[in-house]
Amino acid sequence: MKEKLEQIKQEAVDALGEAATAEALELLRVRFLGKKGEITSILKQMGSLPDEERPVIGGLANQVRAYIENAIAKKAREIESREMSERLIDEAVDVTIPGQVFPLGRRHPITIVLDEVKDIFIGMGFDIAEGPEVELSSYDFDRLNIPITHPAREWTDTFYTAEDESVHLRCQTSPVQVRVMEAQRPPIRIIAPGRVYRKDEVDSSHSPMFHQIEGLVVDRGVTMGDLKGTLNMIVGKLYGESTKTRFRPHHFPFTEPSCEVDVQCVVCGGGGCRTCKNCGWLELLGAGVVHPKVLAGCGIDPDEYSGFAFGIGLDRMTMLRFGIDDMRLLFENDLRFLNQF
Ligand code: PHE
Repeated sequence: MKEKLEQIKQEAVDALGEAATAEALELLRVRFLGKKGEITSILKQMGSLPDEERPVIGGLANQVRAYIENAIAKKAREIESREMSERLIDEAVDVTIPGQVFPLGRRHPITIVLDEVKDIFIGMGFDIAEGPEVELSSYDFDRLNIPITHPAREWTDTFYTAEDESVHLRCQTSPVQVRVMEAQRPPIRIIAPGRVYRKDEVDSSHSPMFHQIEGLVVDRGVTMGDLKGTLNMIVGKLYGESTKTRFRPHHFPFTEPSCEVDVQCVVCGGGGCRTCKNCGWLELLGAGVVHPKVLAGCGIDPDEYSGFAFGIGLDRMTMLRFGIDDMRLLFENDLRFLNQF
């Protein structure tokens, strides 16, 4: 057994010399010192030894074990410090390498103009409201007093999503008026920007998806005069104080009286050019005094309250603002175009 112990010690020394990793070292620890390891198996056989040999062999076995333990611990420290210095080299950061450039996006021209419009209206005490793009036909048509025979309700004009025509992609932001009046009591002052959808062919001034900004004010004694004052102010802020507006009588089922508002052509200043088709004016929005039926349908007494509403074409407004002559540019996502803003 003495020889056996010497042999184990020698084997351990040899094996340790070759162990290069912490994992290999752990295997050796188990092999020599573990519960089923070589030293343990020697100690287990001690019972068969004559009495006088037992302490000698026992002492020797303990020495060998202590020796191997020490050797493993020493090797472990070596491996650890070597692995550490390898990692320090591997993972070194070269702080002098130039950083990666991440291309930064920028605001879309529509967003730029929308943010300006929002700022102006917020400054006048308006809140921002929202409504769904997939809208109930009752909100987008019936409750806006739009008769069942109205051409906008045809399948050729509107993207219905329900066979029974009860749901569609809203064709205007006006249903947000109804949603707000249902949920809030006067005084109401909101604008509601968003996407709207109509079955129009794409060309330089049409897109099946475009943007509107709805406006609604309801309070005691609100008149057409308040509407004119508000809209003139916004046009002045966006296009310059001296820009003239023109209010033309029009018809909308949900306002009475109704008008369309034109701005003096911002390209030619009113003299006539290609953009304004030589008439000197550009159509910007529809508006009017909220129809008493619409108020009453939302539980607001038309004898006590009145209001005005408007719907601005945001895409058109953006094009005029930046002198963009083709609406398709706004939706093609061509970076050569978008990077100019
Ligand atoms: N919703 C109308 C349109 O899309 C515009 C409008 C809004 C008119 C509010 C009057 C009042 O043409």
